[in-house]
Amino acid sequence: MTEPPGVPEILSALDGAASVLDVGCGSGRLAVELGARGAAVTGIDVSDGALAIARDRAARAGLAVRFMHADMTGPLPFADAEFAAGVSRLALMIAPDPVAVLRELARVVAPGGRIVTAVWARIEENAWFGEPRAAVAAALGPERAAFARVFGRLGEVDELVGLHLEAGLEAEGTVVRDALEPRSAAEHWRDLTGRIGHFTRLAAELTPAEEAAVVRELERRLGGGGAGGLRLGRSLVVVIARSPTPV
Ligand SMILES: C[S@@+](CC[C@H](N)C(=O)[O-])C[C@H]1O[C@@H](n2cnc3c(N)ncnc32)[C@H](O)[C@@H]1O
Repeated sequence: MTEPPGVPEILSALDGAASVLDVGCGSGRLAVELGARGAAVTGIDVSDGALAIARDRAARAGLAVRFMHADMTGPLPFADAEFAAGVSRLALMIAPDPVAVLRELARVVAPGGRIVTAVWARIEENAWFGEPRAAVAAALGPERAAFARVFGRLGEVDELVGLHLEAGLEAEGTVVRDALEPRSAAEHWRDLTGRIGHFTRLAAELTPAEEAAVVRELERRLGGGGAGGLRLGRSLVVVIARSPTPV
């Protein structure tokens, strides 16, 4: 399995901050990475299942990372300027009002502190996810492919930077691109259903015949790949911002 995209860029942008809030921390991979680099990390999420995995991950790493159930769409349960930096990877696109989330992040991060956010770029730039989902739609009908609807939302640099500016932050954006290189469509499907929740849950509901139909359709869409296998693009928009300093 490859490294989650954007993580090296995010770690470098956080620049050794002493304390970091991770909003929508999920199963805690990034939070634990940050903890291992010496930061005092707090991760928040609304999924108790993900938080349990995150706590277990931190315990196994011997790190005292704080994981809390908290909703990013409301007032954050932290004091003004409580953290040296803030981060949110692959969660901001879920929020109905992402500017409100960014304003709250700016409030709880010390003036001048880094705020780093990342979301998937448009689905057209993410064949690794878009092609299998399209194969599900073609093979089984669009209703079976009605998952991850927010994938690609806010996924343009100008749009995501614009939201940070609207929240009163200074911000610069960049696109991080890489590719998955499975040997075949079947191998890519196995990888997705083994580690990406949306596909794991779908695969658990499919009959063997349905799953075979999806893989056939994916093979048709992706082609054989030749001797070198396939190359499926992944693309992430990353914004590096600063909490405003008082004038
Ligand atoms: C795609 S996952 C990303 C997890 C992690 N940040 C990563 O980079 O792998 C999105 C996460 O956002 C969380 N989430 C969704 N809505 C939320 C909310 N309102 N407040 C906090 N977390 C939320 C989900 O539970 C999920 O863990």
